[in-house]
Amino acid sequence: MTEIRAGIVGTGSCLPEKVLTNEELTRMVETTDEWITTRTGIKERRLTDYGTSTADLAVVAAKRALSAANVNPAEVDLIIVGTSSPDMLFPSVGCILQDKVGAKNAAAFDVSAACSGFNFALATASAFIENNQYKCALVVGADTLTKYLDFTDRDTCVLFGDGAGAAVLKPVKDGSGILCNFLMAEGAGGNYLTMPGGGSRDPELKNGKRFISMNGKEVFKFAVRALETSVRKVLDKAGLQPADIDLLIPHQANIRIINHVCTKMKLPKEKVFINLHKYGNTSAASIPIALDEALADGKIKKGDVVVLAGFGAGLTYGANLMKW
Ligand code: ACO
Repeated sequence: MTEIRAGIVGTGSCLPEKVLTNEELTRMVETTDEWITTRTGIKERRLTDYGTSTADLAVVAAKRALSAANVNPAEVDLIIVGTSSPDMLFPSVGCILQDKVGAKNAAAFDVSAACSGFNFALATASAFIENNQYKCALVVGADTLTKYLDFTDRDTCVLFGDGAGAAVLKPVKDGSGILCNFLMAEGAGGNYLTMPGGGSRDPELKNGKRFISMNGKEVFKFAVRALETSVRKVLDKAGLQPADIDLLIPHQANIRIINHVCTKMKLPKEKVFINLHKYGNTSAASIPIALDEALADGKIKKGDVVVLAGFGAGLTYGANLMKW
């Protein structure tokens, strides 16, 4: 009997309408379009307004994915949302989403792995489907990190944007689907990238540390290593070589991180999907948004080997390898 695997049968995404360009940022902090473009590759990013939450974006992306998959919300029996900017500490974005899309037969929870959130959520849902415990999963990556940016701190405020992406997973038996994954954490490096927010260490923000704080150089070194390790691990598990990849969809944080890894692995540019110039780093949303755009652009065809790989705060990293 052919093994059961989880296959992606529909995707969707949602980006807020408001665009913040590099040019506009030069009027907020001491920076230039040239600095941001050469150091990161980012030209503009999208921002939610004050009243729009992470779940609001997630709901739109999820509805689009369900519609693309032609799946009735009542059919969904599992919802996992990767996010590090939930609407509140509880209920989870997953539960808010479950109610708003009408997926009344689904279990729902969030996964906290920062920018690696979608890969962690996808691997978790995939395991549940392979085990035959669930038959239809909605996996979402959604974040609104611009709400946690200090727009006087040029080290961080130029990097991030808001968005959400979603995928519907069902069991497949034709040799396609998620073939393997790799997930890893390095908690010892957690201090390199933090968002104290209103967490239990300082719930009333007495220390005033509401914003993202980052040691860019250390995160950069980690990211280059983590991205390459993640891609190599899933290739090894699948018995494949870098040349077998048809499309790599990396976490869209910084073009220099992606270029470093692609040069080292001899991956040609046309096999790597990039949209970070338009959206910046949308955290857990970056990979599912890119996947949705890659599909819409006709960059993925039946039988292709597609690798989703990324890294994030935690520190966390990982990848999913699938045959389309
Ligand atoms: N505009 C102009 N100058 C700036 C800016 C800015 N926006 N930001 C920093 N600089 C200055 C610095 O102050 C420094 O000045 P100095 O030399 O006088 O001290 C100079 O530019 C060079 O700074 P570096 O930190 O050396 O710049 P670098 O080339 O390392 O690029 C960057 C910085 C883009 C932040 C890079 O380190 C990076 O991308 N790191 C990884 C960040 C990342 O991906 N984070 C997300 C992880 S995923 C998640 O889970 C959230």
